Amino acid sequence: MRARLFATRRLPIDHAEVVDTGVLVASFEADRAPTSEELVDGARGAHAIVTQVSDRIDGSVLDRLPGLRHVAQMAVGFDNIDVAACRARKVLVTHTPDALTDSTAELAFGLLVAVARRFHEGQALVRTGSWRGFSPTLLLGRELVGSTLGIVGYGRIGRALAVRAKAFGMRVIASTRRDAPFAPDGVASHAPFARLLAESDFVSLHCPATPSTRHLLGDEELAAMKPGAILINTARGTVVDEAALVRALERRQLGGAGLDVYEREPVVHPGLLGRSDVVLLPHLGSATQEARARMAVCALEDACRVLRGEAPLHPVPD
Ligand code: DGY
Repeated sequence: MRARLFATRRLPIDHAEVVDTGVLVASFEADRAPTSEELVDGARGAHAIVTQVSDRIDGSVLDRLPGLRHVAQMAVGFDNIDVAACRARKVLVTHTPDALTDSTAELAFGLLVAVARRFHEGQALVRTGSWRGFSPTLLLGRELVGSTLGIVGYGRIGRALAVRAKAFGMRVIASTRRDAPFAPDGVASHAPFARLLAESDFVSLHCPATPSTRHLLGDEELAAMKPGAILINTARGTVVDEAALVRALERRQLGGAGLDVYEREPVVHPGLLGRSDVVLLPHLGSATQEARARMAVCALEDACRVLRGEAPLHPVPD
């Protein structure tokens, strides 16, 4: 019987360049995420599926796909997948770390500059024809040099952001899971989470979505941030209590926010939508041609390995 692979979205590369001859490949063709019924319909009979962060893979989906052996998540984050349910059914789960590190760090840094220098308000002035020419007091922003960036989650992407921030003359501090200090790297120094919140002019989130990071930033933590600080989130929406963030922005505790991810994507808290001190992007962290091609190759190569009976190179961590 020929091995079958189903991709829940059209892939950004020609799969024929990566997938072994003989593997039958199909994908969901609409330009939106499939519903779980559509996913199950498309994946019926498949041995491997290539999934995206917008697909929910849980026990009920897995029970309807008895031949499935591998979920190849085309993302570094895999909080949309019930890994325990997969393991219980002997379905392997892989992801694509490394492939999107630079793209995501670049986007986080871009958001940081955009909020600090008020790109969003400046662009609105120009586009609406309301700009009246140069003014020495127009849209004064904040300089990065000499300011402190606090990075929450010092993994691949956090470290890549730290290097960029350091090159801009920022002081970089970082906190890690369980607040454990890390080996000195000449870029960032360790700060416990509470001190990081109190000292940082900019806080950028780079931790995974887990039960322990859910609402890591809520009312209390946002109130503990340096007055006027700017929050950047390119990690996962659930790390921030969005309603609490709106409250913190409304009382001007925070100076602004740059968000690429949301608690209930694609729904965005209405209190954020009208604010001029926030920059809102539609989950674009890894959205470069280079990263998306690497992610697709990484997911497909692991799928082929599993279909050949070999161990995948990028199983999700425990
Ligand atoms: C990831 O990889 O987790 C991003 O959120 C999507 O590319």
